[in-house]
Amino acid sequence: MSEVHVFDHPLISDKLTRMRRASTPTQEFRLLLKEISELMGYEVTRNFETQLVTVETPVSTGTFPMLKENFFTIVPILRAGLGMVDGMLELMPFAHVGHIGLSRDETTHQPVEYYYKMPENFEDSIVIVVDPMLATGGSAVDAIDSLKKRGCKNIRLMNLVAAPEGIKLVQEKHPDVDIYVAAIDECLNENAYIVPGLGDAGDRIFGTK
Ligand code: PRP
Ligand code: URA
Repeated sequence: MSEVHVFDHPLISDKLTRMRRASTPTQEFRLLLKEISELMGYEVTRNFETQLVTVETPVSTGTFPMLKENFFTIVPILRAGLGMVDGMLELMPFAHVGHIGLSRDETTHQPVEYYYKMPENFEDSIVIVVDPMLATGGSAVDAIDSLKKRGCKNIRLMNLVAAPEGIKLVQEKHPDVDIYVAAIDECLNENAYIVPGLGDAGDRIFGTK
């Protein structure tokens, strides 16, 4: 069974609460999401392997750790996942970015794939799938299915807010994928929105409603 990491950090909690407020304008919402993504990125990358290298400092020579694996792919689930990319790239400017376009059908709540573009040989990289919302879990499960079908083996999932239903589904379908979330909310409502959540993340990031 995969691990679920819930961030318990006052900076993240404070920023997320600001994002939840219905009155928070798009510009601030987007900035807060970027900032939280960067903070969460520290934890998501915590167990990345390092190797010792020899470095000449201005004073002497020493052996120090540097990242071993230098091929990382950040995969936002479009659209809302795009809001988490810049924060992650601040932390890992050397990372590649792949895109998966998924949209939930408004009546069935099932995800429909409309775009897919990955870096060459990405299947050998460490992949971090990012999406602010993990509601039913359908989008995340489909995105991970797509990546695994193409041979990807090392995947982790980073969400801002998750519903217990979404976590359960991802753990059932992808027990090898660790999940990182800033908060686990109460439940889903009849429209499969997270309660209390923060509303429609894509609309709030891009100001489309
Ligand atoms: C939202 C969100 C997730 C999905 C979560 O995207 O960004 O991708 O819903 O729901 P699920 O866990 O029930 O699948 P949406 O379909 O609204 O598209 P958007 O990002 O283009 O707004
Ligand atoms: N997608 C969102 O943007 N918000 C939700 O609460 C659920 C799915």
